[in-house]
Amino acid sequence: MSETPLIELRDLTKHFTLSGDLLGRNRPLLRAVDGVSLSIKRGETLGLVGESGCGKSTLARTLIRLFQPTSGQMLFDGKDIAELDERELRPFRRRMQMIFQDPYASLNGRMTVRALIAEPLEIASIGTETSRRARVDELLDRVGLNPDHATRFPHEFSGGQRQRIGIARAIALNPELVICDEPISALDVSIQAQVVNMLEDLQAKLGLTYLFITHDLSMVRHISDRIGVMYLGKIVEIAPNDALYRAPAHPYTQALLASIPVADPEARRDATPMRGEIPTAIDIPSGCRFRTRCPFATDLCAAAEPPLTDLGGGHFAACHYADKVMTKEMQAA
Ligand SMILES: Nc1ncnc2c1ncn2[C@@H]1O[C@H](COP(=O)(O)OP(=O)(O)O)[C@@H](O)[C@H]1O
Ligand SMILES: [Mg+2]
Repeated sequence: MSETPLIELRDLTKHFTLSGDLLGRNRPLLRAVDGVSLSIKRGETLGLVGESGCGKSTLARTLIRLFQPTSGQMLFDGKDIAELDERELRPFRRRMQMIFQDPYASLNGRMTVRALIAEPLEIASIGTETSRRARVDELLDRVGLNPDHATRFPHEFSGGQRQRIGIARAIALNPELVICDEPISALDVSIQAQVVNMLEDLQAKLGLTYLFITHDLSMVRHISDRIGVMYLGKIVEIAPNDALYRAPAHPYTQALLASIPVADPEARRDATPMRGEIPTAIDIPSGCRFRTRCPFATDLCAAAEPPLTDLGGGHFAACHYADKVMTKEMQAA
């Protein structure tokens, strides 16, 4: 197995210029992704969490080049794909696929399940009609649907089954990276675990690498190897999942964990829950972007942006006081 990470982002930004006033003046710059560096190893699951609006989907869409990045590098298997044109991108496109929150919206309701799952194969001109049929049957089986389902339409299925159809489509071309953008957020809690288990099963069988995006911190813990916490376009903490839940070093992470509604006995419960609203990405606070909501903010936090600091064991946090928080935590443990 190669040592090159499957994904490596270096200071990636995606800024949107909004439309401004009627004359197109004063066009504000919205910094949706604002300098993200991270890597994902082959076969790994990186969870990505953060409140709605913090830039998770924009990061995902930029990574699969639905959006052109504003700046920075995006290495896929060691090759920077940030600036590639459409023709150069083609071989990479099938190597990365996305699963969306709302499978119904992403599936054409007038196509049968067979046509939907065969579509990526047809577009990529893979196989014959006969071999594609066999492949669709195999994919249905992989995601726990039966061959009779092939002739039906998306509206005949439950939300969980539709997500299975979306997953079958996503894995049809044998991708290496699958980005799951809130794949279970729209599903009943009873169905969520089934879909997560299936994703884990597929990962083990097919050697997939996942970027698993969610605003729900309870489920992501079970599927992730590491978790990145995003706030206003930046990663503010990233760590192996156990370390993140046991000893969160960033006050934002602490507040997120304190806000988990379902009692998780292992999660840190003594932090102050989140206060206030996430500021707009048009007007990001100076210094530490979390300082306007942070119970511990000092003058230093307004003056200087804290870098992602190495706390050891693969744990990084962007807080001027992260070491102190960690020390206290570790002493308590
Ligand atoms: N196509 C777009 N044009 C302008 N702004 C956008 C666009 N897509 C997302 N945004 C803005 O970027 C920010 C991040 O959004 P998003 O990536 O959807 O966050 P999340 O997925 O974490 O909820 C938000 O302020 C959102 O309004
Ligand atoms: Mg989103």
